Amino acid sequence: MKTEIIRIDPVRPEPYKLEYCGAVLRYGGLVAFPTETVYGLGANAFLDNAVRKVFEAKGRPADNPLIVHVAYYASAESAGEFADGRQRNLFYALGAKFWPGPLTMIIKKRSVIPDSVSCGLDTVGIRMPSNRIAAGLLRAARVPIAAPSANSSGRPSPTRFEHVLEDMYGKVDVIIDGGECSVGVESTVLDLNGPEPTVLRPGAVTREDIARVAGTCGEYGWSSADLHVDKPRSPGMKYRHYAPKARMLMFSGTPDAVRRAILARLRAEKTAGKRVGVLETEEQICYYNEADVLLSLGPENEPRAHAQALFAALRQFDAAGVDVIFARALEAEGVDDAVMNRMFRAAGGTVLPAEE
Ligand code: TXA
Ligand code: MG
Repeated sequence: MKTEIIRIDPVRPEPYKLEYCGAVLRYGGLVAFPTETVYGLGANAFLDNAVRKVFEAKGRPADNPLIVHVAYYASAESAGEFADGRQRNLFYALGAKFWPGPLTMIIKKRSVIPDSVSCGLDTVGIRMPSNRIAAGLLRAARVPIAAPSANSSGRPSPTRFEHVLEDMYGKVDVIIDGGECSVGVESTVLDLNGPEPTVLRPGAVTREDIARVAGTCGEYGWSSADLHVDKPRSPGMKYRHYAPKARMLMFSGTPDAVRRAILARLRAEKTAGKRVGVLETEEQICYYNEADVLLSLGPENEPRAHAQALFAALRQFDAAGVDVIFARALEAEGVDDAVMNRMFRAAGGTVLPAEE
């Protein structure tokens, strides 16, 4: 398939380019576009055939539903409906606070949305992104757009145009080159169908943020036990995800204990002829000069920087041909909860305790 690459200004998106890409989407084509979280791979959410092509391009399992993206509340209500007034009020209260932005809310699906979007579930996730290109594209498309992250299934989500090019060139109609994603991890997925709102996937909008608006907020734990259950609430949670090609070993403990554990293990791997990488904060990375590739997550106390750096770093380790990546489990405060969730899954669901 011929893939067209279209550069769009992230600050002042050119209207004629948005109109063109919007028309490609409306008439059933696939367009990869930037959002504030990660790049998405969009298709007209009303067209079953277009949605199926998304699964094909990504190699995505057929039981992992897509999020529907909208520019207006009216479009949200064309895709989903509310169980009752209470749920409607909650949806609008959370929307008023966090939309447009990195929050996906799950409500009951309307029948106009094909089963290929929801993978047979009777619910649908809806998100109104804030990125200017994404928002302009959705207005131009004039239909809700189903869009998963624009990576090949199982690979780290793309936070830069180059990542999308790597995974999607030749498989989609258009790739928009629209700069870097400011948040860097995927949206918070929030289920509104239970007795209290429940976070199914942590993101930049935290559980505390939600609880401040909703009064209460539950979370679906992401310990190894939850990762290995057969029927998770969010189908996406059961797949090994965000996976670099290298093996990732994640250690928990104090920075000192982790440093000793990593250095011992790192030397053993190097002796065995392996190429090793270390992913650490700016404060810690200087201790690992023996590693082949050192990548920083940014300052220890800046979770937002960690979120922005993570996926690009995982891809960079792959590009450098690293066999083993060492990393430390950070305190899951604020957005770091989302960052640790992704790292934990990249590590295959195991954290090794560093001995004191
Ligand atoms: O930030 C984001 O959410 C990005 C950008 C492109 O918007 N999109 C994204 O989509 O991350 P995707 O498909 O990679 O992840 C969607 C997640 C999956 O874990 C999926 O299982 C879950 O949301 N999900 C979607 N619809 C659901 C539903 N009805 N019930 C439960 N989980 C759902
Ligand atoms: Mg994804």
